[in-house]
Amino acid sequence: MPNHHHPVVAVYPGSFDPITNGHLDLIQRCAPLVDRLVVAVLRNEHKNPLFSLAERVAMMREVLAEFPNVEVDSFDGLLVDYARDKHAQLLLRGIRAISDYEYELQMALMNRRLAPEIETMFMMAGEAYSFISSKLVKEVVGLGGNINGLVPLSVEEKLKQRFLSRV
Ligand code: PNS
Repeated sequence: MPNHHHPVVAVYPGSFDPITNGHLDLIQRCAPLVDRLVVAVLRNEHKNPLFSLAERVAMMREVLAEFPNVEVDSFDGLLVDYARDKHAQLLLRGIRAISDYEYELQMALMNRRLAPEIETMFMMAGEAYSFISSKLVKEVVGLGGNINGLVPLSVEEKLKQRFLSRV
């Protein structure tokens, strides 16, 4: 039974280096289903991100400004600790293909063991986005390929600037 006394809060965690139209599609699908959707950017310096945490958060706030119940935040440490701090009942993750499933299942089960009261919810982005990943987008831009339509326009500009300034 849903508990109508507590708002439904979902946390959508990720590296978002940078946000793609696949992420955006998932956020668009989830936002109407919950009271609050907290998009939580991992502070993953060890993964050597292309964009700093501040840059990733700023790009996402710009793109997500139109969604009144979506907020962008950052986190460090265990995801479930962060989710508990936010009083979230749900963790949102996207699955593109079967190949995502194994890693996602592992994480979902580990998170369930750590925090049995928090549920992981998987959603599928539209099929038009099923091949998009931040990693491939960066690789294609870096090699001079066209990424139009794969990321928001403002992010496309930032990506091009980043790679032009590296040459
Ligand atoms: O976009 P990504 O890189 O696939 O997201 C991975 C993320 C951020 C969901 C995962 O690395 C994570 O939750 N990291 C926080 C540390 C943690 O809680 N680790 C245990 C997860 S089972």
